[in-house]
Amino acid sequence: MAWTSYPVPRFQGAIRAPGDKSCSHRALMFAGLADGTSEISGLLEGEDVINTAKAMAALGASVEQIGPGKWTVKGVGKAGLSSPAQDIDFGNSGTGSRLMMGLMAGYPITARLVGDASLSKRPMNRVIKPLEQMGARFEHDGRGMLPITLHGSDALTPIDFEPEQASAQVKSCVLLAGLNARGTTSVTESRPTRDHTEKMLRGFGVKISTRPAGGVRQCVSIEGGQTLQPVDTSIPGDPSSAAFLIAGALISPSGGVVVEGVMSNETRDGFFQAAAMMGAGLGAEEMGDAAGERLVDLQAATASLKGRSIPETLVASMIDEFPVLSVIAAFAEGETVVSGAEELRVKESDRIAATVAMLRVNGVEVEERADGFVVQGCGGPPPGGGLVETHHDHRIAMSALVMGTAAQKPVSIDDPGMIATSYPDFMAHMAELGADIREG
Ligand code: S3P
Repeated sequence: MAWTSYPVPRFQGAIRAPGDKSCSHRALMFAGLADGTSEISGLLEGEDVINTAKAMAALGASVEQIGPGKWTVKGVGKAGLSSPAQDIDFGNSGTGSRLMMGLMAGYPITARLVGDASLSKRPMNRVIKPLEQMGARFEHDGRGMLPITLHGSDALTPIDFEPEQASAQVKSCVLLAGLNARGTTSVTESRPTRDHTEKMLRGFGVKISTRPAGGVRQCVSIEGGQTLQPVDTSIPGDPSSAAFLIAGALISPSGGVVVEGVMSNETRDGFFQAAAMMGAGLGAEEMGDAAGERLVDLQAATASLKGRSIPETLVASMIDEFPVLSVIAAFAEGETVVSGAEELRVKESDRIAATVAMLRVNGVEVEERADGFVVQGCGGPPPGGGLVETHHDHRIAMSALVMGTAAQKPVSIDDPGMIATSYPDFMAHMAELGADIREG
């Protein structure tokens, strides 16, 4: 059923950022491995993360919700993971499935992994290949896509791996397999990607080192056979979710938004840097820290935006924010060019095609390129009036609804269902800030 976002005169208020999705997945996984009971607060209770919680429980951890966003996890410790009785369903989540494949590969277990229509079309060879090199085995239909049966091993061989893509999921998968390999596993990245696995593992008492490897390249190494210690931790706010609210403030005729408790991490802040380059005056007030990450209250107000070429060096740190970047680019004056972002083709949807279609159906001129897109900004509110196909992609759905708050005419989406995978409170937060989003 379609939902529509109507233009509103103002977009104002303060919202506490929901827990970060990447950190929430990792906290559950690492607590599930630890030798003892961890307590996690501020967990994002989106469908993707809940599927990871269920996966860890199916593999032997005791996972319990004790309050809103508060969970206790009794890890398997030295006993290790055990084979699940049933298929593990990762729903829509690339992060859940790929990181868990690495985690499971280091134990002598068998598990069949399944996912929804979108996840079942996403490439898994990028993690199958290195895990096979280490000694895990996989059964699939030959295309390297879910459903996949994994056979792990407690005698994995460590590898020195250089992923073809700048991908935190691939890096994390290999490092997590390395946690149970016999020796030191290293991943050398051509461009730094989000570093939550490294930082959070350190919080669980794991020794893991990161060193420069020439230019922007870096090498992360982990010694196998380490035991994780339980922790009490709180999850920092999600900059990727905050980006939607910040974008809403920038494009509103009368915007003024504070998003509280947002993680400030240079591997995640590309969207805010790009928005600042386009003329957004963003404020960031330090608000302490959570799980080893700095927290800030982010402020944004209506801005007169200018199109820019987005530096390719920012791509990895804003990989999930290109759909919403395209929205602010549509309101900007002049051309915004995105390049070096071919990874967007294999996200929850083909995000280059879906983003281009979202803008076109709303009257914005945009050129599709193999590795990005070029938006001709409208220098103010774009026409709007379109029905956007979301292709099972939460970030396309949220971007289109943000666009509708300030376009000339309402913007509709075919299905809001997937928003719950990453930001279950999105509709409530948007309404609190003044958005008018309704079914129909
Ligand atoms: C994530 C890594 C990114 C990102 C995803 C979350 C993670 O994917 O798009 O939403 O938590 O490691 P890639 O590593 O495939 O770029």
